[in-house]
Amino acid sequence: METFTHFVTRLSSTQLLLITLTLLLYTPTWPSSAAATQTELLRDFKASPDPSIQTFQTLLADPNGNFSLGFLRVNKTQLALALLHVPSSDPLWLANPTQLARWSDRTTLVFNGSLVLSDPQGKVFWSTHTQGDRVVLLNTSNVQIQTQSSVLWQSFDFPTNTLVENQNFTSTMSLVSSNGLYSMRLGNNFMGLYAKFKSGSNSDQIYWRHRAMEVKAEIVEGKGPIYAQVNPDGFLGMYQTGNPAPVDIQPFNTFHRPVNGLRKVRLEPDGNFNGFYWDGSKWVLDFQAISLPCELPSPCGAYGLCGAGNGSCSCLDNRTEFRSGECFPVQYGDFCSGGLGEISNFWVIRRSGVELPYKELMGYQTMSSYGECERVCERNCSCWGAVYNNASGFCYTMDYSIQTLVGLGMRARWVILRCGRVQGGRK
Ligand SMILES: *[C@@H]1O[C@H](CO)[C@@H](O)[C@H](O)[C@H]1NC(C)=O
Ligand SMILES: *[C@@H]1O[C@H](CO)[C@@H](O)[C@H](O)[C@H]1NC(C)=O
Ligand SMILES: *[C@@H]1O[C@H](CO)[C@@H](O)[C@H](O)[C@H]1NC(C)=O
Ligand SMILES: *[C@@H]1O[C@H](CO)[C@@H](O)[C@H](O)[C@H]1NC(C)=O
Ligand SMILES: *[C@@H]1O[C@H](CO)[C@@H](O)[C@H](O)[C@H]1NC(C)=O
Ligand SMILES: *[C@@H]1O[C@H](CO)[C@@H](O)[C@H](O)[C@H]1NC(C)=O
Ligand SMILES: *[C@@H]1O[C@H](CO)[C@@H](O)[C@H](O)[C@H]1NC(C)=O
Repeated sequence: METFTHFVTRLSSTQLLLITLTLLLYTPTWPSSAAATQTELLRDFKASPDPSIQTFQTLLADPNGNFSLGFLRVNKTQLALALLHVPSSDPLWLANPTQLARWSDRTTLVFNGSLVLSDPQGKVFWSTHTQGDRVVLLNTSNVQIQTQSSVLWQSFDFPTNTLVENQNFTSTMSLVSSNGLYSMRLGNNFMGLYAKFKSGSNSDQIYWRHRAMEVKAEIVEGKGPIYAQVNPDGFLGMYQTGNPAPVDIQPFNTFHRPVNGLRKVRLEPDGNFNGFYWDGSKWVLDFQAISLPCELPSPCGAYGLCGAGNGSCSCLDNRTEFRSGECFPVQYGDFCSGGLGEISNFWVIRRSGVELPYKELMGYQTMSSYGECERVCERNCSCWGAVYNNASGFCYTMDYSIQTLVGLGMRARWVILRCGRVQGGRK
């Protein structure tokens, strides 16, 4: 079941990756949005994708024409309800990133109090489950469903992979990269980036963590939840609800420098967390959580080796070649007998001079020798590999296919790996 869920995630992510490409390819034929665009949708609104449109069909725009909500064509035949930054054609939000609909005139978006994306067979791809009067797109890029007196729902509360300035990101939300592999979440006093190296949702590996510095304000326990926000003054702030002073500031390159265009941060498919501003013609990179390529969660894929000097990729096992972004296909499951995802055959690789890129964030046991660390892993059927640091005596074990390690040259660190075989691997 878990494997299936993961498969679905991976499938839709590949599709999402193509969005940007598709957009870039078709930008010259971009429909001019000014013409027939509405600024609010009322009850009885109904729309279906136009088969002749190749890229994006605008349904709703903000008062300045900077943002547009509409049907985005994904992978030629599929459809996402998307919010675009019009000048860059960049999707800032997708309503249904994991449940794409078909680009077919039988797919419909209705507003009947709820915004509902469905097909004639009655399959609902996405719904807001509200009883509102109208849908509006604010000049901040926030889509809201409102009644006369209140806001029932807003897209700002359901971010995809992007946060724009002034959007509140709380500890109940997460950003997920377009390939579904990485996520960003808040802890009680930190911001963390997590990788899904193993199928099953509770086993994410944290690979980056930024603790609140509490310079301008301290976190008072029990005083209210933490939230994050991209500040127009050029930083990613963390705040405690009820206190306007930030408990943390991560400055962008343009800290305290006004920029004319929109600011945003995005969780990227490589696991980095980047900040940008729009300079009128392009997105300018303004912040990176991870600046060295080898410190990304898995820059060379599973069983890869990242050269700390130059960030070049090779393979941990010198019998495999680094090709098309990986050394060896990632395997899921374990070596325990009787389990559904059990892998029966494996070989062992030993390498010295390598290190885990985010070992500070990993659990470890202290052992007296490399041999002891290896034995602990070998005896444990859910262990895929271990890394031993013979200076500190720390033994790190992993319950997922080993991801990219960092090459350190001659310094003595050891790793033992198990690779599930490609053929006949699963019972
Ligand atoms: C709105 O339309 C959807 C899809 O047709 C339907 O499931 C839902 O019950 C409708 N809601 C209301 C309030 O009519
Ligand atoms: C955005 O809308 C708000 C309120 O509707 C308004 O006060 C503000 O001036 C608008 N900003 C821009 C840039 O249009
Ligand atoms: C963000 O949170 C602050 C503080 O709680 C609140 O004043 C503001 O209205 C929120 N903004 C949005 C867009 O929800
Ligand atoms: C939106 O458009 C207005 C006018 O066209 C422009 O001045 C403003 O900078 C734009 N805002 C954003 C956030 O892109
Ligand atoms: C591969 O690595 C093994 C063990 O480190 C070594 O003995 C062997 O010579 C290497 N083979 C090649 C082709 O580099
Ligand atoms: C670590 O292992 C290497 C290789 O076996 C060895 O040369 C080195 O002396 C060891 N270092 C320590 C601190 O034990
Ligand atoms: C087996 O290894 C996994 C992965 O490293 C670890 O989480 C688990 O605690 C280990 N089990 C035992 C009994 O040591």
